[in-house]
Amino acid sequence: MNILLTGGAGFIGRWVAKRLLEDGHAVWILDDLSNGRESNLDEFRHHPGFKQFVKGSILDEPLLEAMFEAGRFDVCYHLGASINVQDSIDDPRTTFNNDTVGTFYVLEQCRKHNVKIVFMSTCMVYDRCCDERGITEEHPTKPASPYAGAKIAAENMVLSYHYAYGLPAVVIRPFNTYGPFQKTGGEGGVVAIFIYNKLAGKTLNIYGDGTQTRDLLYVEDCARFAAWAGYSDAVNGHIVNAGLGRDVSINELAMMIAGDPARIRHVPHIHPQSEIPKLLCNPAKAERLLGWRPEVTLEEGLRRTEEWIRNNLF
Ligand SMILES: NC(=O)c1ccc[n+]([C@@H]2O[C@H](COP(=O)([O-])OP(=O)(O)OC[C@H]3O[C@@H](n4cnc5c(N)ncnc54)[C@H](O)[C@@H]3O)[C@@H](O)[C@H]2O)c1
Repeated sequence: MNILLTGGAGFIGRWVAKRLLEDGHAVWILDDLSNGRESNLDEFRHHPGFKQFVKGSILDEPLLEAMFEAGRFDVCYHLGASINVQDSIDDPRTTFNNDTVGTFYVLEQCRKHNVKIVFMSTCMVYDRCCDERGITEEHPTKPASPYAGAKIAAENMVLSYHYAYGLPAVVIRPFNTYGPFQKTGGEGGVVAIFIYNKLAGKTLNIYGDGTQTRDLLYVEDCARFAAWAGYSDAVNGHIVNAGLGRDVSINELAMMIAGDPARIRHVPHIHPQSEIPKLLCNPAKAERLLGWRPEVTLEEGLRRTEEWIRNNLF
């Protein structure tokens, strides 16, 4: 297939690109490099399926129009977004423009050219988890931050295009994703930050009491899930979760990584009002509709991530 991947120079995007290329597709990437890096694509620059990298924004409608005209895409994987919760609190306009308005522009092109859209939303749209069955797609949402609010708004637009126009469209909600190529600064990647700080001999800082939990998904599992959502008609019109089905508290995670309580410190949370106390994924729907299951355990994923950070950032 001919595929447009927005946000493809970012952390998850580059793994989705890798997966799509390995599966034999032709891939065009659009990324404004506001948080991505062109060097993330070095590994497959010379792959025959790698058609073009365009540095540009999804907010540039004439550019989108030109790419859709020329590319004759079958599927658009839409990952381009502002992803940082604290940034969305400090500057909601940028997040709203990129995540909601930008998604609307991408959708309009998909409608015009009848291109399936895979919209990557996030588990951060959910309200706190209640029981050990975990969060299914029917679980209540809660826009606890402008990031979550912008994603929920965009999800609704994507699904409305499915209902109103019959557009093949799927909303996917991966849980917190980690692995090689994730940035080691900022609030987004707790695993990458903790591992980097451990290797750098620094303290691991935990926001709040550390009892908040996360369901951590290894990035290659996430990329395979996203790719398969684009290949299957069974998920059209659906919201689908992906996660490990196991959550760990941030305290447990810090101990798994640092192995020594003396290296761990608790600091005041920067946005306690937007924290989600428990996130545990129920991934049964992804297995039922796509036959997808996570393959990489948390222990193995942490090992691979640490190896990559040690070899590439030190
Ligand atoms: N990292 C996670 O834990 C996680 C979990 C669930 C969902 N997601 C979603 O997955 C997607 C990818 O996230 P990521 O963690 O790889 O973050 P990332 O910041 O590495 O990737 C997002 C990419 O989008 C690009 N981008 C931002 N605004 C753009 C615009 N206006 N036009 C074109 N490109 C633009 C950035 O430069 C970046 O390369 C996002 O939609 C995010 O909301 C992430």
